Formats: sequence, C-alpha cells, structure tokens
Amino acid sequence: MDKIGLFFGPVGGNCNNVATKVAEQIGNNKVDLIPIKDAKHSDVEKYDKIIFGISSLGKDAWDNEDTETDWDKFLPEFNKIDFTGKTIAAFGLGNQITYPSHFVESLGFLAHELASKGVKLVGEFPTTGFEYQESHAVNENGNFYGLVVDEDNEKEKTDERIKAWLPSIKDAFGF
Ligand SMILES: Cc1cc2nc3c(=O)[nH]c(=O)nc-3n(C[C@H](O)[C@H](O)[C@H](O)COP(=O)(O)O)c2cc1C
Repeated sequence: MDKIGLFFGPVGGNCNNVATKVAEQIGNNKVDLIPIKDAKHSDVEKYDKIIFGISSLGKDAWDNEDTETDWDKFLPEFNKIDFTGKTIAAFGLGNQITYPSHFVESLGFLAHELASKGVKLVGEFPTTGFEYQESHAVNENGNFYGLVVDEDNEKEKTDERIKAWLPSIKDAFGF
C-alpha cells in the first residue's frame, strides 16, 4: 500500500500530539508525519492519500494578520498543489469554551480553500457532543468537514474521537 502523507501544523503542541495519535491508530508504518511549515507543494503531491491537520489560531484566513502560523507559511505552496486524483481528509483543533462563536474555524477555512480547488474532503464528523454557537467548519450535511477535537477542554475524549472517525476514511484511504 502507498503510504499516507499526514501534514500538520503547528509543530510541538496539541496538533502535533493529535497527528501522532492519528498515525498510531492507523499504524505508524502506513503514515509519514510531516510538519506543514517545512513542506513544499511537491512533497504533498508525492502522496495520493493525504490527511491535513490544523489548529484554529484565531484567524478566518491564513494570511490576514501579522503573526505567521505554520499554515500561513505553507499557503503559497498550498496554492501550487495539483490535487487531481488525490484523496484528502482533515482534522481540526479548537476550543469550544473560549471560542464558541468561531469554533474550529481553521478547519472550515481549509475545507473552503480545498473546495475552491475542486476537492471534497472525505470523513465528515458529527457535531454531536460538542457545545458551541457557531462554526464555519460545518458542511451541508450538518457535520464537521473532518475530525474535530478539543484538547483544551476534552483531552480525555480525543482517543475515542479518533477511533470513531477512522472507519469513515478507512475505505477511501485503503488501510
Ligand atoms: C491565539 C489563539 C487563537 C485561537 N483561536 C481559536 C478560534 O478561533 N477557534 C477555536 O476553536 N479555537 C481557537 N484557539 C484554540 C486552539 O485551537 C487550541 O488551543 C488548540 O488546541 C491549539 O493547538 P496547538 O497547540 O497545536 O496550537 C485559539 C488559540 C490561540 C492560542
């Protein structure tokens, strides 16, 4: 089987921990874990099966504030990626207590950027069990575009959330 490319950012925090857990649950031998900040578009294009991991860091776009996140740095490369024939899934981190009106915003932004390039994410995730007011990460079916976890408030639920999500991408990803 071709390996899955799991591209995530930022490095060294909660998103990194969740990326590690997702890779462990799929099987470390089946996944390459790659920080997004160091990635070139050609690194992403090497993979036909790709998972993106992103933390919500208070923006509704990647390049509209002074501070640069890892995903901001990656944006010029992202825009060059040829997504033809790729299977893509994503997970997002957010904080439903502190940011109830913008919950897991970055996942929504990523999904919308991908949609503008003709990519429909596989592996939507139910919103059940989360308490928030608004989120742009909810799709037309009323589900999140991908796996959502809240490491700040519900760290103890992360393992079970990953476990519940993986079957929804298993067939498409072939693991
Ligand atoms: C400056 C800042 C802004 C944030 N903005 C949002 C937000 O708009 N929506 C949300 O759901 N979470 C938001 N969060 C919460 C983070 O997504 C959450 O703490 C996440 O676990 C951080 O992951 P990291 O350690 O990989 O950066 C924000 C956190 C920080 C520090």
